[in-house]
Amino acid sequence: MTKKQTDKLAEAKVIKPQGMDMERALVLDTVRITEQAAIAASRVAGKGDSDLVDQAGVDAMRRVLNELDIDGEIVIGEGERDEAPMLYIGEKVGRGGDHAWQVDIAVDPVEGTGITARMINNSVAVIALAEKGGLFQAPDTYMEKLIVGPPAAGKVNLNWPVAANLQNIAMSLDRAVADLTVTILDRERHEQLIKEVREAGARVKLVGDGDVIAALAAAVRGTNVHAVMGIGGAPEGVLAAAALKCLGGEIQGRFKPRNDDERKRLEAKGASETKVYLTEELAPGKNIVFSATGITDGDLLRGVKFFKDGARTHTISLGYKSRIVRFTDAVHLMADGARVNIHI
Ligand code: FBP
Repeated sequence: MTKKQTDKLAEAKVIKPQGMDMERALVLDTVRITEQAAIAASRVAGKGDSDLVDQAGVDAMRRVLNELDIDGEIVIGEGERDEAPMLYIGEKVGRGGDHAWQVDIAVDPVEGTGITARMINNSVAVIALAEKGGLFQAPDTYMEKLIVGPPAAGKVNLNWPVAANLQNIAMSLDRAVADLTVTILDRERHEQLIKEVREAGARVKLVGDGDVIAALAAAVRGTNVHAVMGIGGAPEGVLAAAALKCLGGEIQGRFKPRNDDERKRLEAKGASETKVYLTEELAPGKNIVFSATGITDGDLLRGVKFFKDGARTHTISLGYKSRIVRFTDAVHLMADGARVNIHI
């Protein structure tokens, strides 16, 4: 090889993130993060231990995050620094350095720890990355949510009666209200909401946990989920907003602090208790990368399947600016042996 050729090769190896597109550079790494968290959590699923699945997911997600060329800060994580030893709000992750991407990160390594521990459907590992300031730093309080897919975006309002929103969702999907399914978290606080949805004629799908993956399901045709309503976690609202922005769906959310401490946290973030926050306010980033990998089987994603030589995962990854919507069906070979048996 001539000197000129060697110089050219060396030049090509230099990473120049400034000239590259952040989403395209990070989307595959993002898939790896949720795949590894899902595999780790799934390994210990079904043992009835929520803490164990959470720890497994957190450890794996943090390990992969710290292998990446990012200068990242957790803005939605496992809790405040004094509550969570890992992936706490404010924790710096990634290898850093001059060429690293500066990103804010929202994580939920195991979205639905209870359902994972009991191996019930619809638990996922989730992450969203955006440029600095691209994700609303929501405190860990509740949020009242109304979530719809692209056809109904802009045609619903959290302040309107449930029946009016259902009418508009039905019209946008060219179907009767009776043909709508609304996912609602199975909680006592939703008794009145469930009654109203049923009285309006729609069907209610009650889920034990997991309103982030329910939001994605509502934004993808063919899942038989047409809306998500009710009160869930505010951090999960930001993760859902990141995904919905990429998919063209909509979330409207109103913070619902449960006590004075949460009210103070809300004030500290400059957030209002009465305002209805829109998708764009919860995920204002111009560069957003999102990934969710199924832990247990669900409406949108299949759960992790283990076999003798490894595991198989199913992931949805999204890029906002790059308009990436990618489903990844991956086989992860874990054994050293040359013989590989892949089961479908
Ligand atoms: P995890 O903390 O176990 O992941 O719970 C997930 C979840 O079901 C979210 O999907 C939802 O937003 C929130 O919890 C609801 O909170 P609560 O269980 O207190 O009603």
